[in-house]
Amino acid sequence: MQKIYISELANYVGQEITIQGWLYNKRSSGKLRFLVLRDGSGYLQCVYFKGNVTPEIFDLSDKIGQESAIEVTGKVKAEPRAVGGYELDATHLNVLHETHDYPITPKDHGIEFLMDNRHLWLRSSRQVAIMRIRHRIVKAIRDFFDDRGFTLMDAPILTPAACEGTSTLFETEYFDLGKAYLTQSGQLYAEAGALALGKVYTFGPTFRAEKSKTRRHLTEFWMVEPEVAFADLNDDMDLAEEFLEYIVQTVLTDRAEELKTLERDTTKLQNVKRPFPRISYDEAVEILKKNGVEFEYGNDLGAADETIVSNQFDRPVMVHRYPSAIKAFYMKRDPENPNLALAVDVLAPEGYGEIIGGSQREDSLDLLLARIKEHNLPQKAFEWYLDLRRFGSVPHAGFGLGLERTVTWICGLDHLRETIPFPRMIYRNTP
Ligand code: 4AD
Ligand code: MG
Repeated sequence: MQKIYISELANYVGQEITIQGWLYNKRSSGKLRFLVLRDGSGYLQCVYFKGNVTPEIFDLSDKIGQESAIEVTGKVKAEPRAVGGYELDATHLNVLHETHDYPITPKDHGIEFLMDNRHLWLRSSRQVAIMRIRHRIVKAIRDFFDDRGFTLMDAPILTPAACEGTSTLFETEYFDLGKAYLTQSGQLYAEAGALALGKVYTFGPTFRAEKSKTRRHLTEFWMVEPEVAFADLNDDMDLAEEFLEYIVQTVLTDRAEELKTLERDTTKLQNVKRPFPRISYDEAVEILKKNGVEFEYGNDLGAADETIVSNQFDRPVMVHRYPSAIKAFYMKRDPENPNLALAVDVLAPEGYGEIIGGSQREDSLDLLLARIKEHNLPQKAFEWYLDLRRFGSVPHAGFGLGLERTVTWICGLDHLRETIPFPRMIYRNTP
């Protein structure tokens, strides 16, 4: 018997096939039993008619519980009303592992219960849809950079110093060499890469000991960070908007079915086309004031502020030139106003907030040294990074896109915890 996946059914209409999977759902009506099978590639309703199968098989179809591992055989029928558009006229049922009392049933469960059972929750149709979208986004990210001459150059995870401020460092003892820290960002290494290879990107897990419980913060998350030599802030913004347009439009085309499963309203995603609006921090502050927010100039934008600013636009908005006092040590100052950093944050629409943070980097040795001192960073640990300004220093820029925030936005979810297989947050490190 031909063994196939549910995703291949279209090629087998009218033929007898076998599929292996798990029992997702079942119902009965008179002499009929409807078993919904899932195999990871899709869902298939298998119809067992009492007159067509042996009494043993008919009994078995009644008895097995949700998530039993089974092998079904039958004839493929096109059935527009069924899930996925096909149905199986089933003739055989082979139980590979009989299961009863599966903890996650079609009824509602509390979020803590689901999170404790994340290893099983991943089997539900919603979670499968999110994981498939996440995977498509990862591939779109790689394709985008690979097709544009970037070289993937992964950064180390154990690092000797902080990149994004010292308040969110995870530290560990490192043999006789003192402390090592889990990386907050691959950027500093990407900069070394850009001066070696011109255009590079890092893509891997990054860590922040975030002490706040929010719907936007994980302690372990994935970040992709392109870095380009001979690029300024404008080039950086051009790259960011082309990149986001590509990701969103690719997912809309290739994961339409999954977005439907999530009941995502895709009209707002369709708008994600270049050019994106570009406003300065000063203009963002004006918008806040016009909307009655008591905002103190110089502060960072909070989540609520970001929502108000992004609600003025129908696509992502790029906010540039923040006060340098609230930005990282490596950002270049604006030559027109040294109080401002040549930084950009991209805010997603619909209240999803910052998904990209980037900047042009300080390329002068003296100014970078001054910043390191101002930020009380250990100069010794940064000597290698300073070398990038001692030997062939050039203007360069890059950004970091948070994968889970991007998945949250594109899927239209209200919390980051469902976008990564096994989320790590301040109050959770299991399963
Ligand atoms: O704005 P951030 O901190 O920028 C950097 O790390 C730069 N070194 C990037 C660069 O220029 N190469 O972080 C970048 C993005 C944020 O916009 C957000 O999407 C995500 O990383 N991010 C988080 N995602 C989930 N949980 C957290 N705790 C996050 N912190 C940042
Ligand atoms: Mg940021």
